[in-house]
Amino acid sequence: MKKVIVLGSNGQLGKTIKDFSETEAVQFVFFSRSEVDITNKNSLITAFDNSNFDYCINCAAYTNVEAAETNIEDAFLINAEGAKNIAEVCNSFQVKLIHISTDYVFDGDKDAPYTVSDDTNPINQYGKSKLKGELNIQEHLKMHYIIRVSWLYSLHGKNFVKTIIDKIKNDATLNITTEEKGTPTSCIDLVAFILHIIKGDNMPYGIYNFSANGSTTWYGFAKEIARNYSAEKIENINPSAHFKTIAKRPKYSVFDLTKTQQYYKVLNTWQESVGALVEKYKMENN
Ligand SMILES: NC(=O)c1ccc[n+]([C@@H]2O[C@H](COP(=O)([O-])OP(=O)(O)OC[C@H]3O[C@@H](n4cnc5c(N)ncnc54)[C@H](OP(=O)(O)O)[C@@H]3O)[C@@H](O)[C@H]2O)c1
Repeated sequence: MKKVIVLGSNGQLGKTIKDFSETEAVQFVFFSRSEVDITNKNSLITAFDNSNFDYCINCAAYTNVEAAETNIEDAFLINAEGAKNIAEVCNSFQVKLIHISTDYVFDGDKDAPYTVSDDTNPINQYGKSKLKGELNIQEHLKMHYIIRVSWLYSLHGKNFVKTIIDKIKNDATLNITTEEKGTPTSCIDLVAFILHIIKGDNMPYGIYNFSANGSTTWYGFAKEIARNYSAEKIENINPSAHFKTIAKRPKYSVFDLTKTQQYYKVLNTWQESVGALVEKYKMENN
């Protein structure tokens, strides 16, 4: 049985992995930020020592894109230095690393899906810090999988699906931007891909894109959430040309999934995955 250490386990991805941990033939050991701080190399070494992990999944990150514009040092400390610490410790203990990165490493100026070899050019501090994290990992550890993901959502933490459902419940009228195009990605689908890597144990190291199939705007995403939650509420959701933010965001960040699909065939459409998650939400909350 593979033994896996999960860092940043109290975030939405970490908690989704926990949901799977009872049923999967993988032994997970979870560490939240208060137990292991990835910016503190000694705390990582203590967690890895004498444990013989096969894989490390790094779910820890500074993820507040807006705040990162002003808290630049914190974003780089966690997303770049933290990733470097993990890579160095994985290298010392010969543990394979599965690290999560982002579509925000791209500038969004392309008008066709981004491949894993396209040039990166982040346009906000979060994206810059995540890219530096990727580069640090590539420099310090050969045994790495860097999975770039986009528009993550789940039943845990704060995310777009939960926010829209809360607003719909309160009968709010919403104006949602049509300015950006990307692909919503369910943490459940991402965890299934991560488990596929661990159980197969033979995928080539490197960078992989991961999302559901297809693409939409935040407006399209919100409408799909509403359609599944309570169809008559769709009319509460209106398109809006612009949503003012501090951080610049890529206008287009759809992934080319060709490389991933060479090793993993199970990709839902984004609508299938949104439908499944909203159904789960209704079962757990109504
Ligand atoms: N959310 C998205 O839409 C999205 C899109 C693309 C890529 N990603 C990437 O996907 C990954 C998972 O994101 P997520 O949505 O699950 O994020 P999340 O819910 O914000 O979880 C991140 C976790 O990291 C922890 N953390 C922060 N600093 C830490 C440190 N120094 N040491 C240990 N843990 C630390 C946080 O702890 P506290 O809560 O205690 O601060 C939190 O539990 C991240 O790498 C993110 O960059 C996310």
